Amino acid sequence: MCVSYSSYIFLLIAICFLEMSGTSDGNFMYFAFGSNLLRERLHLKNPSAAFVCTGRLKDYKLNFGLWEEKAENLWHGGVATIESCQGEEVWGVVWTLSNENLPTLDNQEGVSRGVYSPLEVSVETDDGVIQCRTYQMNNFHASLPSPQYKQVVCQGAEQNGLPRKYLERLEAIQTNNYSGPSVLDQIRAVTQPPGIK
Ligand SMILES: *[C@@H]1O[C@H](CO)[C@@H](O)[C@H](O)[C@H]1NC(C)=O
Repeated sequence: MCVSYSSYIFLLIAICFLEMSGTSDGNFMYFAFGSNLLRERLHLKNPSAAFVCTGRLKDYKLNFGLWEEKAENLWHGGVATIESCQGEEVWGVVWTLSNENLPTLDNQEGVSRGVYSPLEVSVETDDGVIQCRTYQMNNFHASLPSPQYKQVVCQGAEQNGLPRKYLERLEAIQTNNYSGPSVLDQIRAVTQPPGIK
């Protein structure tokens, strides 16, 4: 068999490149704890996402807020973030996404606008500890979520089988009673196409 020298070099460069990015199979792991718990919500902008397992982030707690005191967002209320907190835990879903959806996910999280910063976390799962990308809000100001946002978080937690006790905690979260359009409408358009009963 004859492999040309140039393709050999190309292969070497490709291997080096993939080693550097740390995702040699072209995918990355993502830990979701907010609206991206719901598959249909995550798929709006990140269609490659596939479920891996549920998991727990130890020594963090779940918060809802805005990255600036009066920040406007598509959800009309506080959105989820994590904060380090000894003894607490945040449950979520580990998704695998193709590297093509790294910029789309960062974009959804407003990374370039400074809304969230990516961070690497160790998620405990039944398959052992998985290193995942996740996102933490910058400049956090506590604010109640809209009922629509809460609904998506709870639906996602239920869809992917987060522990019942944790789901009960999510269901107990107070909302700001907002009523009006939100991202939930886009999700409903996917999950409940008009005319299909
Ligand atoms: C939302 O409505 C409930 C029930 O009417 C009320 O108890 C709660 O205080 C309201 N919350 C806000 C933030 O207005």
